[in-house]
Amino acid sequence: MLFWWWHGHPDLSTQQVFYHNRMNLWSILVAFLALAVGIYFIPSPIDPEPFVFEGPPPALEGPLALNRRLQRGRRLFLGQLKGPESFTADQEGNVYTGTVDGKLWRIHRDTLAFITQMGQNVPECGTNVDYEPVCGRPHGLRLDQDGQLIVADSYLGLFKVDPMSGEKTLLLSSKDGCDGIPFGFLNGLELSRNGTVFFTDSSTKWGRRHVRYEVIETNHLGRLLSYDPETGHVQTLLHSLFMPNGIALSPEEDFIILAETSIGRVSRYWLKGPEVGKKETLINNMPGYPDNIRLSDRGTFLVGLNTIRFHGRLLAPFLDLIGPFPAIKRLMTKLIPLSWYNLLLPMYGLILELSPEGEILDSLHDPNGSLTWTISDVFQHGGLYYLGNTDLPFLPVLEDWG
Ligand SMILES: *[C@@H]1O[C@H](CO)[C@@H](O)[C@H](O)[C@H]1NC(C)=O
Ligand SMILES: *[C@@H]1O[C@H](CO)[C@@H](O)[C@H](O)[C@H]1NC(C)=O
Repeated sequence: MLFWWWHGHPDLSTQQVFYHNRMNLWSILVAFLALAVGIYFIPSPIDPEPFVFEGPPPALEGPLALNRRLQRGRRLFLGQLKGPESFTADQEGNVYTGTVDGKLWRIHRDTLAFITQMGQNVPECGTNVDYEPVCGRPHGLRLDQDGQLIVADSYLGLFKVDPMSGEKTLLLSSKDGCDGIPFGFLNGLELSRNGTVFFTDSSTKWGRRHVRYEVIETNHLGRLLSYDPETGHVQTLLHSLFMPNGIALSPEEDFIILAETSIGRVSRYWLKGPEVGKKETLINNMPGYPDNIRLSDRGTFLVGLNTIRFHGRLLAPFLDLIGPFPAIKRLMTKLIPLSWYNLLLPMYGLILELSPEGEILDSLHDPNGSLTWTISDVFQHGGLYYLGNTDLPFLPVLEDWG
């Protein structure tokens, strides 16, 4: 058909060829129209809102100047740890983390010990994202005063886990949630000295495996919550947040620093003092999408950027462009399968050091992902920096800040 349209039919007169070509042109137009109408009527998986960043991402100069300081590290446990998302450590120097297959691990120097499976241990865990709600997916974790792990499982709820026996206790189920709204995507977690657990529910709509939809949709369905293990009381501190993700308590526990991933913003929420209960923006229009935030031994905050907004292969700066146009976002998610978005993201590693006022003090870059990219956590421990991620099959460790 297409061939005839271009070259005419060998046995037809000029007039016939003209008519024939026109007929074929019409059928192609009709086919295109049918396709367009078809696509129009496919329901979009997302229901986006317009979002416009304050401006283009900040220029790579001053403390953001391009460097390669994030390349001087090692990849540990290649093929053994997939997507170590967040970390914590005990007094004996053991480091704890959770992976995409729903497993919790203890790391001591070069040895890896399995602690437990958050959900059910089935063969599909770690290979098929549709099984994440079955297998579980540990994100934020901390050790309490009794040496027990407190773990936010993205799908299942808040748990207490004995790091030696692996025994699990469900503290708060995602089904029950808070204020009658189930948890959809538990993510960041921080523990205060009195045992109160602060944690984020990134979205009541999209679970972890649909995080790309959550970011593209740019909804504000996330919450910051607290849980008192003494009374079992759970409370919403902030709602209507844009994919709240990592949180970090200040050393005096007078405020919490909070990342809102989908709009590139970090805020401060006051727990004490004259501004108690208030939230203020510390930094907006960040050079990428912030994930976890950790306090450093210098009293600064270290932020892993999940994806950068400059220098993109396609998706990151593209999201800036299409932000104001929900119709384009809807069309894009109709046409592009969810699993393809990871391939469109730039392999660029970036971490930021922020002052408690949100000023960018320093940045470490890995422009071609030679050590890592898509960074979810920057955990300083024992002279090293453990770098989290959600999908890569290794644990990158930075040897010094440099
Ligand atoms: C526990 O500590 C947190 C953070 O310092 C504080 O906000 C909370 O009110 C404390 N809870 C109790 C019961 O004292
Ligand atoms: C990244 O760049 C460094 C130095 O510029 C080079 O040695 C390395 O092979 C590159 N890595 C990748 C994965 O391209």
